[in-house]
Amino acid sequence: MNRPRLGPLGWPAACFMLGLAFGRTLPRRPGQEADSTPASRQIVNHASDAIISANPANIIVMANPAAAALFGTTVGAMIGSPLERFIERPGNAGDGPLDYLSAGSGRAGRRASDYAVTGMRADGRRFPIEGSISRASEAPPFYTVIMRDVTERQRVQEKLSRSHDQLRQLSAALQTIREEERTHIARELHDDLGQILASLRMDLTLLQQNAGTPADSLHLMSGMEQNLLTAIVSLRRIASNLRPRALDEGGLYFALQGLRDDFVERYGIPCSLLADEAELRLDDAASTAIFRIVQEALTNIARHADASSVTMNLFRLNGDLLVTIRDDGRGIRPEDMEKAESLGLIGMRERVWAMRGEISISIEEPSGTRIDIVLPLAGHLV
Ligand SMILES: Nc1ncnc2c1ncn2[C@@H]1O[C@H](COP(=O)(O)OP(=O)(O)OP(=O)(O)O)[C@@H](O)[C@H]1O
Ligand SMILES: [Mg+2]
Repeated sequence: MNRPRLGPLGWPAACFMLGLAFGRTLPRRPGQEADSTPASRQIVNHASDAIISANPANIIVMANPAAAALFGTTVGAMIGSPLERFIERPGNAGDGPLDYLSAGSGRAGRRASDYAVTGMRADGRRFPIEGSISRASEAPPFYTVIMRDVTERQRVQEKLSRSHDQLRQLSAALQTIREEERTHIARELHDDLGQILASLRMDLTLLQQNAGTPADSLHLMSGMEQNLLTAIVSLRRIASNLRPRALDEGGLYFALQGLRDDFVERYGIPCSLLADEAELRLDDAASTAIFRIVQEALTNIARHADASSVTMNLFRLNGDLLVTIRDDGRGIRPEDMEKAESLGLIGMRERVWAMRGEISISIEEPSGTRIDIVLPLAGHLV
């Protein structure tokens, strides 16, 4: 049997089958016998990758059903059509199919014959294709292109690279926040407690020198007592900014109540907390995570929502904790969730995912934003 000789550009097995399958429709050398092995035709027809062959004038001479499905048309409509009806012709492309595809958006694989190009469906939709082209050295030669729609793969790759970028930004921001917090604490300790302690020391020296009258000493001591009280209040404030005491002393429920009361007092927005104290007895990791998530949600509502009321629901269901935070403000927009410089929602998601939970942020009907979180509690109950 005199089969077309295969070119050096890869996919030899596929082209071999193509040669077998389409020996009749493709030009043959004189004396070559028609060869149409039904089994090999079936292989090409049932291949899940799209396969088309074109002649040097870029006219499609063969297409399998997967190719027709890929381009949203029929095999009949493809055969005899120019290649450029289905694969976008790059501006810098030469005349032949090899030049045509190699001038595309770039090499897609390791082999010189792998290409990334743009496909065009019959309905006009464009989509990314990766494929491989090989040349069978018939006279005239024909070219076989094996293709795959890589829309989904590209989408996943883009999502992955976006998420890498966000993680990089988050880690950089965490470093900055750490430094800022240290500076802030150092300043508060120095300005607040440092000043008071220095003044106490001076008063003590005066007392030791016993210079004044007993009435002067009493006056000095009452001033020292006042300074000590101020120092205690400052210390409590600094410590509770670092870590809410309610979280350690009363547990999550009371810490959330404190957060809610603080929010209502500072912003004058009514906020209800619907939860059961016994259901919120969780270990430190879960309590801290939920506290920080709710804290960020409330901060966002105060900063961005323009809301007139807020509801927070936390209850257990089948071993999960369901958390819902709703406001009736302007509502978050899809593009808000993609802001590169915003880290609050990313931090929220990271905390939820670290606990193997799920989070969804959506627009609430008729207005406002809704955050739904499901947190598995196994291993976090106390
Ligand atoms: N409850 C809300 N209602 C309306 N818009 C919101 C709400 N929560 C968040 N947004 C929008 O989503 C964006 C992203 O929020 P995110 O918490 O990630 O960042 P941020 O609050 O802007 O900054 P930060 O990094 O300091 O938290 C906000 O800038 C805001 O536009
Ligand atoms: Mg925020």
